[in-house]
Amino acid sequence: MAKMYVNPNVKKGHLNPELQGHFSEHLGRCIYEGIYVGENSEIPNVNGMRTDVVEALKEIHVPVLRWPGGCFADEYHWRDGIGPKAGRKKMINTHWGGVVEDNSFGTHEFMELCRQLGCKTYINGNVGSGTVQEMSEWVEYMTFEGVSPLADLRRANGHEEPWTVDYFGVGNENWGCGGNMRPEYYGDLYRRYQTYVRNYDSKKPIQKVACGANAEDYHWTDKVLETTFDHGYGFMNGLSLHYYTLPTGNWNKKGSALEFDEKEWYRTLKATLKMEELITRHGAIMDQYDPQKRIGMIVDEWGTWYDVEPGTNPGFLYQQNTMRDALVAGINLNLFNKHCDRVKMANIAQMVNVLQAVILTEGAQMVKTPTWHVFHMYSHHQDGELVESFAETREIGAEEHVRVPNLTESVSCSKDGRLHLTLTNLSVDEAEEMECIFAQTKINSGKGTILTGAMGAHNTFEMPDQVHEEDFTAFTVDGDRVSFTLPPCSVLHLELEI
Ligand code: AHR
Repeated sequence: MAKMYVNPNVKKGHLNPELQGHFSEHLGRCIYEGIYVGENSEIPNVNGMRTDVVEALKEIHVPVLRWPGGCFADEYHWRDGIGPKAGRKKMINTHWGGVVEDNSFGTHEFMELCRQLGCKTYINGNVGSGTVQEMSEWVEYMTFEGVSPLADLRRANGHEEPWTVDYFGVGNENWGCGGNMRPEYYGDLYRRYQTYVRNYDSKKPIQKVACGANAEDYHWTDKVLETTFDHGYGFMNGLSLHYYTLPTGNWNKKGSALEFDEKEWYRTLKATLKMEELITRHGAIMDQYDPQKRIGMIVDEWGTWYDVEPGTNPGFLYQQNTMRDALVAGINLNLFNKHCDRVKMANIAQMVNVLQAVILTEGAQMVKTPTWHVFHMYSHHQDGELVESFAETREIGAEEHVRVPNLTESVSCSKDGRLHLTLTNLSVDEAEEMECIFAQTKINSGKGTILTGAMGAHNTFEMPDQVHEEDFTAFTVDGDRVSFTLPPCSVLHLELEI
């Protein structure tokens, strides 16, 4: 029996809803087809945004959306995507699949999507191939209320009021696709570019996000902060981190989304758990410059990255999504909760039809992936307070050198005083008897939801509900204790009244 200890009286920090953020790039069928079909499409839509997808995203309370990339961001010139659609420039999306980008989804459309979702906006600016003037004018176009050439242009294009830009990324992966820069050089550019990301509305200051490291590139974090930090707070509100789960660790042969064995299952989960080390070690460097933790770590790209589905465009990064992905999501979201003192936002890559998508579409059809269900279950954590918790775990795995703890967990207290426990059982085949002990707290009642299935279980357009949440009632409440059996390969949400 594994014991889990929860102390609802010890609050460890606020869980920003943005910890469950999303990322949408002009890549493959994420934006076009997946989200935006245009006003004239036969697929039901509101102002071009497909209704089924928007409704499914609203169910998981998407808190923030990052756009337009990714690598695409550092090739994107925002003026190409405004004004009458017939006059918008057509170009080749050189980075992703060499397809025609007709710019029919631009700034106005992104803001409309965020309006429909009711989410915050995270725009990623172009440092790699754009000018300071271009970036500065984009911010002015979007956020300036008064009279100016750019604000007037926005009005002429049909939007009278300024929009709110909640977060602005100053470049993306500038160590790679965003310009192959050295950290000191990027740090200097960051100082310059961010100067012109003006706050036109002092009541809604834009949170500026600097380009952070790729995985374990600690040198990047250190040097960017060293180069930039003397400007103090407000100058940088967030520093990003990108880390993808690759089952094989080999970019040339990443492995299949659907065809995998137990060994690959545990390798994938172990690779995911590396996120904890990355947060801790990058966080320790950030602590040296910012001990008060005022600069947020922004994990604005995370998720699984497999070989594309056979027969699909390699540049479209389309992959299926199984219970393995559900576990990856559950582990990562628990980790972000546990590190909420430093991690202020995280964005899964990507929202629809790309990498670890929460939604897949095919023509007019749509399926919610196992990852969607995990976001749905974890959405109860949004805006809660992290509560102290600890679970006894044991090491499991299919290979001597690939061992993982059998459980991960996190607990929060929502505004209405309820406790929310989310647990993952990483074992492919072993259930776990659990006893949760709540310090000085009597549990009155509870309810639960579980997601479980065989490790390769997934949803298809023919069978969209193979993997779905089910009510979980097989638990007993006895004073300060809650006991249950956690099935193998599962993600559980328990909501408890105290
Ligand atoms: O999410 C796909 C790509 O991965 C993004 O464009 C880039 O930022 C990262 O390398």
